[in-house]
Amino acid sequence: MNRKQLIEKYIEFFKSKDHAEIKNSSLIPENDPTVLFTTAGMHPLVPFLSGESHPQGKRLVDVQRCIRTGDIDEVGDTVHHTLFEMLGNWSLGDYFKKETIQFSFEFLTKVLEIPTERLAVTVFKGDSDAPKDEESSQIWQELGIPKERIAFLGKKDNWWGPAGNTGPCGPDTEIFYWKPNDTLTPEKFDTSNDDWVEIWNDVFMQYNKDKDGKYNEAKQKNIDTGMGVERTIAILNNFEDNYQTDIWQPLIKQIEKLSDKYYKGNEREMRIIADHIKATTFIIADGAVPSNTEQGYVLRRLIRRAIRFAKDLGIPQDADVTTPLVKEILEIYDDYDILQNNKQKIIDELNKEEDKFEKTLEKGLRIFNKHSDQNIDGKTSFLLFQSYGFPIEMTIELAKEKGIEVDEEGFKKEFEQHQKLSQTASAGKFKSGLADNSEQTTKLHTACHLLNQALREVLNDKEIFQKGSNITPERLRFDFNFDRKLTDEEKKAIEDLVNKKIQENIPVELEELSIDEAKQKGAQGIFDSKYGDKVKVYSIGNFSKEICAGPHIKNTSELGTFKIKKEQSSGSGVRRIKAVLE
Ligand code: SER
Repeated sequence: MNRKQLIEKYIEFFKSKDHAEIKNSSLIPENDPTVLFTTAGMHPLVPFLSGESHPQGKRLVDVQRCIRTGDIDEVGDTVHHTLFEMLGNWSLGDYFKKETIQFSFEFLTKVLEIPTERLAVTVFKGDSDAPKDEESSQIWQELGIPKERIAFLGKKDNWWGPAGNTGPCGPDTEIFYWKPNDTLTPEKFDTSNDDWVEIWNDVFMQYNKDKDGKYNEAKQKNIDTGMGVERTIAILNNFEDNYQTDIWQPLIKQIEKLSDKYYKGNEREMRIIADHIKATTFIIADGAVPSNTEQGYVLRRLIRRAIRFAKDLGIPQDADVTTPLVKEILEIYDDYDILQNNKQKIIDELNKEEDKFEKTLEKGLRIFNKHSDQNIDGKTSFLLFQSYGFPIEMTIELAKEKGIEVDEEGFKKEFEQHQKLSQTASAGKFKSGLADNSEQTTKLHTACHLLNQALREVLNDKEIFQKGSNITPERLRFDFNFDRKLTDEEKKAIEDLVNKKIQENIPVELEELSIDEAKQKGAQGIFDSKYGDKVKVYSIGNFSKEICAGPHIKNTSELGTFKIKKEQSSGSGVRRIKAVLE
C-alpha cells in the first residue's frame, strides 16, 4: 500500500462511520500566535474542540501536514521526521472512548489487516489531575489485546495537549506496532524497547488547561486522534526504516547520485538532507521565507543543516543540491496544489539560501575547528553566528560531534550585548528565532508599543493586552484580545493617536528595574521569572511603559507615518493588526 492509498482508505473508512472530510490547513497557524507551526491535526480545530460548533458537524476526518521542531535533533533515525502527515478523526462532543478505540482497532486490523498479535497499547496511569484509565484498558482487552500488552504510563507519555499554552487536552491511549520482521512479537510489552513504534494516538480531550496551569473538566468531551502516515506506510510494507518507502526513496536516490555514495553507510546524513529539504519545501509553500525570526529562522536552520550535511557527504560546493530534491518532492506530493502553485518560489528561496550559506560555510568550519580543542566560548559561537551564518543549534551539534560543549549562556550574553535580543527572544522563543534588528524592525518594535497603548485608549479598555507579535522589516503584526471587528472610525482614531505621539517627538527611555519595581510603576508585559532579576522597561513619555528586551529607537520622531493595513480575527477573542511605517 502506498501513501495515497492509505490516506484514501482512512478517509473512506471514517466517512463510512459518518465523518465529514475537512480541508487541511497551512503549516503556519493563522489562529494561534503562541506557536510557530501546526503540530497536529487538531491544531486548526482548537476553537471547535473548545465548544464552537463546526459547520461540517460533530464527526470530522482529514489528513494534515505537521511540523515538529522538537524532533529536529532526532531526525536521522528511522522514524522521526520534521514534516509528517497526520491522519486524524475527531468527535466534537459526540462519541467517546469506546467508539474511538473500536474504530481504531477495526481500521488497523480489518482495513489494513494488521495482525492483533503485533499490537500493544499504553493508557494513562492516573495522577492528581485525572484518574487511572481503567475503562480504556477494559475496552482494549475486550477487543483482544492481552493484559501483558497494555502498559499504564504517566503524563509524560499518555497525555496530549494543549497545543499551545492553554486549551483542550486530556489522557490518551497510544497504539504501538512491533516492527522487527525477523523476531516473534514479545509477549510482554516493554515500553522502553524502540522496536515498538507508536503509530496512532487516541486522545480523550476532556480537560481544559487554563492560564494558571489548572486542568478543568471540559464542558464538551471530544476525541482527537492522530496517525502518522510515514510510519504506517513503512510497517504496511514491512520496512523497518521509513526512508525505504516510496515517499522517501526518490529523494535518497537523488542524494546518492549527487554525492556519488551509497545510502548504506551514510544513512543519517542522507535522511537529514531528505527530511530537511522536504520540510522546507512545504514551509516555503505555506508562506514563510528564510529569515532570522520565527518560522523563517527554523527554515534557515533546516536549510543550513541540510547544506552542512551535503558538504559532509562530499557533494561539491557548486552542485545545486536543493533543486533536484524539490522536483522529486513535487512529484511525490502531486496532490498538494500549494506545492505545485509555488514551485518557482520554493526553488528560488532554497537556492538563494543555499548560495548564501555555501559562501561562508567553509570558512566558518575552519574557525570552528581552530577553536575546537576546547569548549566553544560565547564569543566564538557568536562570531560563527554573526559572520558565518551558523545557527547556534549547528554550532552545538558540531561541538557534540567533537565531544565538546558550547557556552550557550555566553552566546546569549554576546547576543544581548550586541543589542540583538528581540521581542521574540523576550517572549521566551529564543530557540525559535533570533531577531533581525535592522533599523526598520527597531522602529516597528517601538511602533508596537505605541499601538498597544493607542488600542487601550481608543477602545477604552484597560484589559487589552498583547497576545503575540511578529515583526519583519516590512511590517508589524500585533495580536491583542478583543472580541469584535474594529470599525473604520476606530482604526482611523488609533492611527491618528499613534501619529500624534510620533509628532510629539517623545524620547524613548530605558530603565532597568526589578520586577516588583516595574509592576509598581505600572509597566505592561509578562511578569515572568524567565526575565531574570532585572527587567528592561521602555517608556515613551507618560503614554506607554512596557517590559521589553528592546531594542528601540531613541525618539518617536524617527518613526515616520504609521498606517494600519489590515485588521482581522486571529482566533476566538483575538484580533490581529498588520501595520507599516511609511
Ligand atoms: N493530537 C494528538 C497527537 O498529536 C492526536 O492527534 O498525537
